Amino acid sequence: MNLWRIKPVDQLFQESSREKLPKAMGPLDLVALGVGAVIGTGIFVLTGVAAAEYAGPGVTISFILSGIGAGLAALVYAELASMVPVAGSAYTFAYASLGEMVAWVIGWNLILEYLVAAGAVAIGWSSYLSDLLRSAGIVLPRALTAGPLGGGVINLPAVLIVALLTTLTITGTRHSAEVNRVIVAIKIAVILLFLVLGFSHVNAANWRPFTPFGLIGVAHGAAIIFFAYVGFDAVATAAEEVRDPRRDLPLGIIGTILIATVLYVAVALALTGMVHYSTLNNPSPVATALLSLGIRWASGVVSLGALAGLTSVLLVDIYAQSRIFFAMARDGLLPTAFHRLHPRYQTPHVALGVVGGAIALIGGFLPIDIVAQLANIGTLTAFIIVSIGVLVLRKTRPDLKRPFRVPGYPYIPILAAAFSAYLASNLPPLTWVRFVVWMAIGLIVYFSYGATHSQLAQEPFPLAGLPKLARKPWLKRRKP
Ligand code: ALA
Repeated sequence: MNLWRIKPVDQLFQESSREKLPKAMGPLDLVALGVGAVIGTGIFVLTGVAAAEYAGPGVTISFILSGIGAGLAALVYAELASMVPVAGSAYTFAYASLGEMVAWVIGWNLILEYLVAAGAVAIGWSSYLSDLLRSAGIVLPRALTAGPLGGGVINLPAVLIVALLTTLTITGTRHSAEVNRVIVAIKIAVILLFLVLGFSHVNAANWRPFTPFGLIGVAHGAAIIFFAYVGFDAVATAAEEVRDPRRDLPLGIIGTILIATVLYVAVALALTGMVHYSTLNNPSPVATALLSLGIRWASGVVSLGALAGLTSVLLVDIYAQSRIFFAMARDGLLPTAFHRLHPRYQTPHVALGVVGGAIALIGGFLPIDIVAQLANIGTLTAFIIVSIGVLVLRKTRPDLKRPFRVPGYPYIPILAAAFSAYLASNLPPLTWVRFVVWMAIGLIVYFSYGATHSQLAQEPFPLAGLPKLARKPWLKRRKP
């Protein structure tokens, strides 16, 4: 059993060209996919906590800091995605550079990034819905809006929204891309509305002092709101459904980070200028700030927009996770059912069904804080491994065509890895314990299934992909 067997990049190309996923997406769809995946809980919820408890108005600088970190990782992803435009994202990159076991470890981490994060977003979606209904005079019972650890029975709105979106993604990519585009447009319009109202109600005294908790506070704030950038790599998971992946993937990934950073910094600045940062520690700081200034109508509109924003994050998370399972099943590391396409809709319906079911369970029964922190640590670990993957592939496969190259090589990939490691080291010890348990379960699953069912297990490393005779020279020698 060779755990370090590498999947030759040429084999990846061959396999992906045999697939029948329809190539329906263009650059605009990709940016919409990225912005849809990225702008959500981070800006609509976490900005408040980060400002009130860690950074004050300096949360604006926190967004710049974590935006730089995410931007570094985005450059790394753009090189790999343009070079190896096949479904599976970081998982596939690792398989082509660092070997099967590392690829499995990344795949297992991506489950935290997409599936588990989606659970947290579904819980947030449910709270926004409850808030909105409450303001219209309808109060949902606690038993149906929280899991057992939160004093309820089941978080029903979270389960229902996941069921609805899973059905949507099963019935077709083109269709869900269109829905996603509409939702993203609403989300951006609402943020722009907030910015216009926010900046016209700024009281500059609220910005003084700008960093009440010092630079350490700003750095802690950056670690927390890094979550706001999680998900841009979802663009890379769409690689096989893009019309011109080599040009459009880098555009989609870098465009997403740029748009998100500009909006985040502006929102943080407006928010902390409108009201004092100490009042922001609540589940809907953006809407609450408008309300406290007496702009009630806008508060309702912004809440609706936040709901739309969280919906698109969920939609993309479900989509991306199913494509990662799809790629892992193709390699034999997961059961083949995950690789099956629906006869009518041509989507990986089994993978989508399992993903939707698991997210619904997490959203329906677990608390948001545990879930969100696990998502963070999974993403950061994936970023570290992918950055190392770029360095390795430049050495081992300098011959490969790289339509997009990371500038400032090797410093940018090294910086990207170091920055992610720094942020991960700032997460609470209990999150690390849960993470270690999760990884241990992952390795058990790998050794009891993937390691023996792997497609590459049939081909001895390192000569996989070469002509048969050359692969077994000893057989030739034994012949008379
Ligand atoms: N970046 C995504 C959000 O903030 C996960 O909701």
